[in-house]
Amino acid sequence: MMPDDLVPHAIAAKGFMPEDEGAFLHRVARERLPHGPVLEVGSYCGKSAIYLGAAAREVGGTVFTVDHHRGSEENQAGWEHHDASLVDTESGLMDTLATFRRTIERAGLEDQVVAVVGRSTTVSSHWRTPLSLLFIDGGHAEEPAQDDYAGFAPWVMPGGALVIHDVFERPEDGGQAPYHVWLRAVRGGAFEPVETVGSMRVLARVRGGAGDPVG
Ligand SMILES: C[S@@+](CC[C@H](N)C(=O)[O-])C[C@H]1O[C@@H](n2cnc3c(N)ncnc32)[C@H](O)[C@@H]1O
Repeated sequence: MMPDDLVPHAIAAKGFMPEDEGAFLHRVARERLPHGPVLEVGSYCGKSAIYLGAAAREVGGTVFTVDHHRGSEENQAGWEHHDASLVDTESGLMDTLATFRRTIERAGLEDQVVAVVGRSTTVSSHWRTPLSLLFIDGGHAEEPAQDDYAGFAPWVMPGGALVIHDVFERPEDGGQAPYHVWLRAVRGGAFEPVETVGSMRVLARVRGGAGDPVG
């Protein structure tokens, strides 16, 4: 169960995480964090990071969350998930970093949640730390979603969890890239499906060690 004091923070935060999926993410993170750090791709304004950070506050451990804070394709002006209040008036670019910081500060999770600000491919090309849990919720177009998997999934430790958000098998329910990543993970042989809540799917690393190829 999410700690009572953090539930209102998670609900109030801007973002794309239904409460049942957030509670599920929190439960998986609680199980995994004693084994090593969590990495999230796609911080946005910190909503999912509260669910992950809550688990770190309870059981110890650290959550790294990667985002360039310029928004995905679907967050840009004219697209479905655009929020005009998140546009930097000087540059005209999306900027979710200040809102993210405020969200995590208000939740009191600055010791647990570490923002890594940059393009995920840049970060993943330098990443060498085994992960107890990888949560992929970054760009939802085919290329960024596949890049996130290729760059970070090898670093999931044996027995570690790969969690993919917004997995929709039917095109009429949503974009297909996260589903394609899920298929790739299963077909690659390094991961096996474990559990699903809503559009969130959890897989476990069943083959290879951290840093080994995952297919
Ligand atoms: C769906 S939102 C994340 C939602 C968040 N997890 C939540 O629950 O509220 C996707 C985020 O991924 C980020 N993103 C997209 N492509 C990226 C890339 N190549 N590198 C870093 N961040 C990226 C966007 O800036 C956006 O904030």
